[in-house]
Amino acid sequence: MTTSEGSTNNASEGNRNHPSDSLEVLQLSDPHLFATPEGRLLGMRTLLSLQHVIAHARKHLPSIDLALVTGDLVHDASPAGYALLKKELTHLGVPTYCLPGNHDDPEILDKAISGNPIDTPFSIQKKGWSIILLDSNRPGSTLGELDDIQLAKLQETLSSYPNHHTLICLHHHAVAIKSQWLDRIMLNNANDFFAITDRHPQIKGITCGHVHQSFEERRNGVLLMGTPSTCFQFAPKSVDFEIDNRAPGYRHLTLLPDGEIRTDTVHLSRYNCSIDRTSSGY
Ligand SMILES: [Fe+2]
Repeated sequence: MTTSEGSTNNASEGNRNHPSDSLEVLQLSDPHLFATPEGRLLGMRTLLSLQHVIAHARKHLPSIDLALVTGDLVHDASPAGYALLKKELTHLGVPTYCLPGNHDDPEILDKAISGNPIDTPFSIQKKGWSIILLDSNRPGSTLGELDDIQLAKLQETLSSYPNHHTLICLHHHAVAIKSQWLDRIMLNNANDFFAITDRHPQIKGITCGHVHQSFEERRNGVLLMGTPSTCFQFAPKSVDFEIDNRAPGYRHLTLLPDGEIRTDTVHLSRYNCSIDRTSSGY
């Protein structure tokens, strides 16, 4: 998919001509909102960039069935920030499912966002697909971890829906992406995670946030994906913290009835990010 207002990065065959019984999914990630609409991160107004991303997705993906938001929803984990997020996500007009990242407080998130159409479920099932949303937040740490409860619920859900093609979503990346500083804060117990997923062939894809960039690779036939942030991006394969020039973006996934995933990422063009590039962290 290519639009006049965005550049794309095709991860597979592209998204054109999908059958009507496919499940069309928008993935947003890492909006990093604040308690006030004026909140800035590295000089960037994160609410404004989220609004531009949502407007772009609404215009160019008119037939999405649902949206996923994969963590770092609110940078200061404030109830007011989650209220702002909920208001913005409502503009999508589709059921939208959120999970926490390392900057979130899962309890405050659940309290602020649970409901309809914006919710924080563990899993949903639709059109023959099961979508599982994991909480990899480790309190007080930027590292990710799936605790025993998350791992048990993952196992249980996979066992309950063996005939549903499955997409797993979590904030932290479970495989190294050759970015030294990001790989130090990836999912800490990826071995525990893969010990479960490797036993369930219905899993077709695993998508994450956290990395603020697009990546795709296959592991044992499963498509692993990273997704751009709705605010600033991190430079691929960087040794230390480094901001990329790419504009805010999102991922589009088409989940087909036969288990195939077609996906691409989109970055806005003509977007003035006004980012403070001298920062050594965020
Ligand atoms: Fe983030």
